[in-house]
Amino acid sequence: MNDSASAARQRLIVALDLADPARARTLATLLAPEVGMFKVGKQLFVNSGPDIVRMIHDLGGEVFLDLKFHDIPNTVAAAAVEATRLGVKLFNIHVSGGREMMRQTAEAVEEVCGKEGLRRPSVLGVTVLTSLDASDLESMGVQGAVAAHVVRLAGMAREAGLAGVVCSAQEVRDIRNACGDSFMLVTPGIRPAGQQAGDQKRVMTPGEAVRAGIDHIVVGRPITGADDPVEAARAVVAEMSAAEG
Ligand code: C5P
Repeated sequence: MNDSASAARQRLIVALDLADPARARTLATLLAPEVGMFKVGKQLFVNSGPDIVRMIHDLGGEVFLDLKFHDIPNTVAAAAVEATRLGVKLFNIHVSGGREMMRQTAEAVEEVCGKEGLRRPSVLGVTVLTSLDASDLESMGVQGAVAAHVVRLAGMAREAGLAGVVCSAQEVRDIRNACGDSFMLVTPGIRPAGQQAGDQKRVMTPGEAVRAGIDHIVVGRPITGADDPVEAARAVVAEMSAAEG
């Protein structure tokens, strides 16, 4: 595999949004050699527990634990320590939990890694859920454009020591400009060229996402629901690889 294909493969995170842990295992086994990471979200984690993360690690895969922690600083920092001990590569917390929550979390991760000799995961912030629009924000007392609020929250995440944020394709350029090149941007809502958007409203193709400057894309159903998931994953990687130039 050449350098741009291997870089493209590392960028691809497959969302295992599945009710059936056996199906998740089958897909992870098939896809582990093809993709950079698997996203384990609330559904799979609640039905399978930390064993699903260990299973993916046993297959040689990496995990983005998408549990979007949001609580008082002490509680989120303690959950972050456990995510770190599980060995996940990425996990996320809500920026709206506040500066102190993010700061204590980043610090707790750093500390447990030092003490226990663990690999340091990247902690990502969740800014504004894409299910919320300007009128939802207004009813919570936040005035102005959603995009401006997203960029403000991304800046707070960076200042508090987070590695990056999960963001929509439309927000990538503004956040990149505000937060710099080393800030990690992870983007769902990706649809391979020529595919139906389904319930995703604002989509980007894998090639467009790479050209826009994302670090990782999250792709679920276009791969997990494909007749041949390996072929579908390879097509996404090839599309990104071509865009890496
Ligand atoms: O199947 P699909 O490719 O739409 O899956 C995208 C994944 O990214 C899902 O796990 C979804 O919950 C997640 N996600 C998203 N939009 C966001 C945040 C997360 O689609 N704004």
